[in-house]
Amino acid sequence: MYFCVQIFHTKMLDITKIRADFPILSQKVNGKPLVYFDNGATSQKPQIVIDAISKYYQEINANIHRGVHTLSQLATDAYEASRKKIQNHINAEFSHEVLFTSGTTHGINLVASGFASILKPGDEVVVSALEHHSNIVPWQMLCEKTGAILKVIPMNEKGELIMDAYDKLLSDQTKIVTVNHISNALGTINPIKYMIEKAHAVGAAILIDGAQAVPHLKPDVQDLDCDFYVFSGHKICGPTGTGILYGKESWLNKLPPYQGGGEMIKEVTFEKTTYADLPHKFEAGTPNIAGGIVLGTAIDYLNSIGFDNIQQQEKELLQYATEKLLEIEGLKIFGTSEQKTSVISFNIEGIHPYDIGMIVDKMGIAVRTGHHCAQPIMAHFCIPGTVRASFAFYNTKEEIDLMVEAVKKAKTMLS
Ligand code: ALA
Repeated sequence: MYFCVQIFHTKMLDITKIRADFPILSQKVNGKPLVYFDNGATSQKPQIVIDAISKYYQEINANIHRGVHTLSQLATDAYEASRKKIQNHINAEFSHEVLFTSGTTHGINLVASGFASILKPGDEVVVSALEHHSNIVPWQMLCEKTGAILKVIPMNEKGELIMDAYDKLLSDQTKIVTVNHISNALGTINPIKYMIEKAHAVGAAILIDGAQAVPHLKPDVQDLDCDFYVFSGHKICGPTGTGILYGKESWLNKLPPYQGGGEMIKEVTFEKTTYADLPHKFEAGTPNIAGGIVLGTAIDYLNSIGFDNIQQQEKELLQYATEKLLEIEGLKIFGTSEQKTSVISFNIEGIHPYDIGMIVDKMGIAVRTGHHCAQPIMAHFCIPGTVRASFAFYNTKEEIDLMVEAVKKAKTMLS
């Protein structure tokens, strides 16, 4: 997808200036300059986001949708303005289709739990072999509860989903398909537009886990025509404990509430409770108000850099790192699709990934090691895990050189 199309309207990013926005990037770790390549796990935060959190607590902290007093109104206005900003960012038709969550996992569990009232024994839920555990386990729990059957779209040796097999899995029995936009473990970009069309052709709903996509691209949920699109705020320079569930109005009206409590009701009596309209029906309790507001700040920040520019920078980093790492004898990259984002998962023959991670950390390099919450992917490749370097727009080729040198040293020490 985006790494295979020609990119227009890009400018050279001033990476030195951008890095100055992120105070953590000038830190030393273990006495060495930090090289942060664990962006797939969480992104770093620019000063503007850090400041916005303090500003909220210093100036307008109050509970939202509850008080007539001035601070409560200011906080409510800021929270709802952020919802609208996110609506525009993902091009949702209505702001009430944008629900604040605590993250991708929360969004998926909300939808999976709602489908318990829809599925019957023998109905089918289709997931893919490329999923993070958070997009497998909630659906398994749903199947256990309802008697529905879980079907899995297989992948090939490049770590791409096999579309012929997907087509064959779909039937009148399929009630929902759930797939990530981009794999967290391998970086594969899935052909979600095709998958959405195919799911709809059999009358199934489709949820897209966009957690690993939104740091790299702006999803257009109307153009995609997905029923649900979920993501986390902390992977896009926003605070942890924030996330978004986009759902089509018709689906959100059909699903029952996820949690009961304050704010999600119209009227409560001991005989019967009626529920609030969207989006409040799904937002019980006091939310992460500061987080929701500041997620809007983070999105503004990314848009000020520009997603075309982000993609161009990350594409160069991916190409450079792939070439340099493959010069190391015995190193194998897992996830070799041409439709790939700036994630490299690799192993060196005969060496456990955890050992490489520990040694490069001593040289200031932060990579993730292990199964990346995607054990079925590791099982497919018959490996215990990988070393994963995941790049963001604020990373540089000089940092890649440092990582490659560190990996070479680790190899020498461990061979
Ligand atoms: N899902 C995050 C990752 O891939 C935590 O690292």
